[in-house]
Amino acid sequence: MKKIMVLPGDGIGPEIVDEALKIIDFFIEESNLDIRYEFGDIGGIAIDKYGIPLKDETLEMCKNSDAVLLGAVGGPKWETTEPGKPRPEDALLKVRKEMSLFANLRPVRIYKPLIDSSTLKREVIEGVDILVVRELTGGIYFGKRERVVSNEDIFAYDTELYHLYEIERIVKLAFETARLRRKKVTSVDKANILESSRLWRETVMRIHKDYSDIELNHMYVDNTSMQLIRNPKQFDVIVTSNLFGDILSDETAMISGSIGLLPSASLGENNSGMYEPIHGSAPDIQGTGKANPIAQILSLAMLFRYSLGLKREAGRIEAAVNQVLEKGYRTPDINTENGKLINTKEMGNLILEAASDLK
Ligand code: IPM
Ligand code: MG
Repeated sequence: MKKIMVLPGDGIGPEIVDEALKIIDFFIEESNLDIRYEFGDIGGIAIDKYGIPLKDETLEMCKNSDAVLLGAVGGPKWETTEPGKPRPEDALLKVRKEMSLFANLRPVRIYKPLIDSSTLKREVIEGVDILVVRELTGGIYFGKRERVVSNEDIFAYDTELYHLYEIERIVKLAFETARLRRKKVTSVDKANILESSRLWRETVMRIHKDYSDIELNHMYVDNTSMQLIRNPKQFDVIVTSNLFGDILSDETAMISGSIGLLPSASLGENNSGMYEPIHGSAPDIQGTGKANPIAQILSLAMLFRYSLGLKREAGRIEAAVNQVLEKGYRTPDINTENGKLINTKEMGNLILEAASDLK
């Protein structure tokens, strides 16, 4: 029996997770799959209920599952600049760290029918196919941070710290993944300034010796942010640190038209993983039916493929998304002039229908 831990979270999280669950239910029923799922609270909702964003018990359930499907966490209600206050985002970091999910894969593809929903020109983005490999359990997200208040001064700091083994494992994974793609890796750093980036770059160069079939280039992060909108087709696999990956993956998402389309997989040494859309909890559209469930549904497809070995089912979900978009159905974030405007549930149902017809 396979166990999936479902963490809907905050904002639009529960709405879009519901649509993904319809699809899990369908496949369980159709193919008699031995999959069970359980729910847990994470983020703001957990702060409201228990005073903390993640209970140990929920974390244990995540660790004991074959995969975690997450919606989104956070919202204005829990935003605070006060040090020491519980924050929804802390829970996400805790799951990533405690499950050792060091590799975050964020694929960016262009859906042909959506090419005109991007703010970039058609000729710039046509054919873009990028995989951002973001280091997820190290760097400034987890380094020491502090705010110091004294009579003379007030200051605050965060630490960007990378151990050699942390760089080695993510870089190897990037090279391995590139082998299954167009065999090109761009390593992004700020080695002209940061010591941690120099260690990063040196390590990439050394490991590259074992992957001489892969074309490698190094790029500073500021230049990368420019190159991504100037000529995104030059990229295949981008490998980078936690913070740079966070920032660049939002930018990369915009190439595809909407951040509401992009799934992600966070993986560790074994097959377990956490799967979540790369977008946030979008509290501004919570409960309006405007949320796009596609990123969540595609995250489920990644979960099927990577953690459950259900490759055919994953392929059917992805093909179904494509079909529905091709037929012109659109949630507001991707709507264009001739689009057929629909809501979250309708989008979920259409994808489900298409997936079931694709048998
Ligand atoms: C992401 C998000 C998270 C991050 C937040 C919600 C903590 O922006 O997954 O990209 O910064 O990693
Ligand atoms: Mg982010």
